[in-house]
Amino acid sequence: MSDYKRILVTSALPYANGPVHIGHLAGVYVPADIYVRYQRMRGREVLFVCGSDEHGVPVTQRARKEGITPQQVVDRYHSLIKKSFEDFGIGFDIYSRTTSATHHEFAAQFFRKLYDDGKLIERTSKQYYDEEVQEFLTDRDIVGECPHCGNPDAYGNQCEKCGRDLSPEELINPRSKRSKSTPVLRETKNWYLPLNEYEPWLRDWILEQHKEWRPNVYGQCKSWLDSGLQPRAMTRDLDWGIPVPVEGAEGKVLYVWFDAPIGYISNTKELCEREPGKWGAWQKWWQDEDTKLVHFIGKDNIVFHCIIFPSMMKAHGKYIMPDNVPANEFLNLENDKISTSKNWAVWLNEYLEDFPGMQDVLRYVLTANAPETKDNNFTWKDYQDRNNSELVAIYGNFVNRAVVLTHKYFDGKVPANAKPEAIDAETLAQLPQIRAAIEDDIEHYKFREALKEAMNLARIGNKYISDTEPWKVAKTDIDRTASILYTSLQICANLAIAFSPFLPFSSEKLRQMLCLDKLSWDSLGNAEVLQAGHQIAPAQLMFAKIEDSQIDAQIAKLQATKAEHEAAAAAALAETPAPAKAECVFEDFEKMDIRTATVLEAEKVPNTDKLLHLKIDTGLDVRELVSGIAQYYTPEEMVGKQICILANLKPRKIKGIVSQGMILMAQQPDGKMRVVSPEERLSNGATIG
Ligand code: 2FM
Ligand code: ZN
Repeated sequence: MSDYKRILVTSALPYANGPVHIGHLAGVYVPADIYVRYQRMRGREVLFVCGSDEHGVPVTQRARKEGITPQQVVDRYHSLIKKSFEDFGIGFDIYSRTTSATHHEFAAQFFRKLYDDGKLIERTSKQYYDEEVQEFLTDRDIVGECPHCGNPDAYGNQCEKCGRDLSPEELINPRSKRSKSTPVLRETKNWYLPLNEYEPWLRDWILEQHKEWRPNVYGQCKSWLDSGLQPRAMTRDLDWGIPVPVEGAEGKVLYVWFDAPIGYISNTKELCEREPGKWGAWQKWWQDEDTKLVHFIGKDNIVFHCIIFPSMMKAHGKYIMPDNVPANEFLNLENDKISTSKNWAVWLNEYLEDFPGMQDVLRYVLTANAPETKDNNFTWKDYQDRNNSELVAIYGNFVNRAVVLTHKYFDGKVPANAKPEAIDAETLAQLPQIRAAIEDDIEHYKFREALKEAMNLARIGNKYISDTEPWKVAKTDIDRTASILYTSLQICANLAIAFSPFLPFSSEKLRQMLCLDKLSWDSLGNAEVLQAGHQIAPAQLMFAKIEDSQIDAQIAKLQATKAEHEAAAAAALAETPAPAKAECVFEDFEKMDIRTATVLEAEKVPNTDKLLHLKIDTGLDVRELVSGIAQYYTPEEMVGKQICILANLKPRKIKGIVSQGMILMAQQPDGKMRVVSPEERLSNGATIG
């Protein structure tokens, strides 16, 4: 920090297409808030910026799904998200939005400058267009067969079955999700940022000058750079977004990943113009080398914050670069990936309904278990354990004993250090070490470790009071009791300070209990924060025990969500027939000799699970065939059944039996196969066509 005059902290602008959940909090907002609270306590000039990301395809998708306008979607979620952040004490200096007039104007000007300076290249490409809805399709609006694994429902950008990245043109038989029609390729013009031109600079800036970045961030950047950067389109053929401010760009908007990060700047501008006396000019924050810029993000945002946005700022020419981009990995929930669309999440607004006033418990658990170096898992059981056996049993218990006993023996006044002993000094000697460790950890974005140190301090206090047993000593030696409680109360004051960045609500409660004017970081490590004779307030409960029934209710809620989602997915699947096959001519069909037949005998093919050996009467002859239907029918069920067969399929030897023909089967959405039988019994050998 020493070389900088001020710190500008940004945290990813969440999409305003749904509420925020614990994954958001753990990945981005709690660590950013800890960092900012700590820096503010150190007396540094800090600005913490965020806002809603209100453009982009997820917003339009949600609007379409709910039958409302994109503006209605973002209005609803912007307010909800803003409130959740406030409720959890995420202390942004500004939380604005990318639909604001300031942002629209600022982002358009930024684009225009790159355009005027010749930093963008104009390119025509072919993109899928849906003639029915008369719009170009986004990659996620196109589905088709995956060329790698045959998944019939792969998306235009990715196959969720085999995980491969795709481009829409690779899909076999593409279809539009918007209208179910077959999209056509149509020429369109867009403006690209030639990222390849920034590659040498990026390599030097990141790979040489920022070797200290987290390994996950550095590694992802290296891998992008090693595979070679390509020009990237900064405009899109969509109608929701910021219109491209160039002639001939009607119907096009700025790429959401172009406009969103500019939101950090435009929101800063909005704040600075609102309160110039407090914040100064926005340029001071974004264009002065004395500012340390830090982006807090999730790992899916790394390329945008380390490669694309820096290249945009470099192209513009006046901007500073981030000093660090501490990206977290992902948080899973009960061993499954958190998913907004599957409603597999703990939503912050719902959490607070079920656990009112317990923001700090969640902040604590999410930090203690933060996905800083690898994906991590949130479980309700762990949440309960950490609350009950750490916050309640250690931190809360210690504070409660110290405060209650001070009231019991000393009328709530900090007693004099009348009879100190070695254990007091030894215990207090650890305070400065803990302070140094917390500072070092936070400056290096190691929030889990930093929290561990703060908790260590609570453990030290709890052990001290358990070892010295003031409730027993009081019976014989009130002077010694005074020293023990004096020491304990100094630890309490230190705890309030040390936990401030992590658990702001609890620290505030403790501050009030201790009747301190303010919590000052400078006092951390100090063994004389509270003077003898200082009056403290009665004990308040810091943390409440969480009962099994509360946890069971949360788990049941998740299970119900899962069951609901699975039922909805099955229903949707049942309504979605397999995609149409490629066109064929009548002659192709005519070649097939399809006719009715009756099963005369049936038995399982020995040593197989799936095969039945059937003897059938085709009207033409009696013949044998082998069919893979043993999973769906017993031999007894098949005997006597009238079926339809492809009679002229070239005979094949299967398990030593010559199979003459194939039974026609229909596949159900759940994958089960059923034979196709005529509605009424027909004569064997009736031809079908
Ligand atoms: O991934 C997301 O949720 C994006 N809305 C983050 C945008 S961050 C920034 F660039 F605005
Ligand atoms: Zn695939």
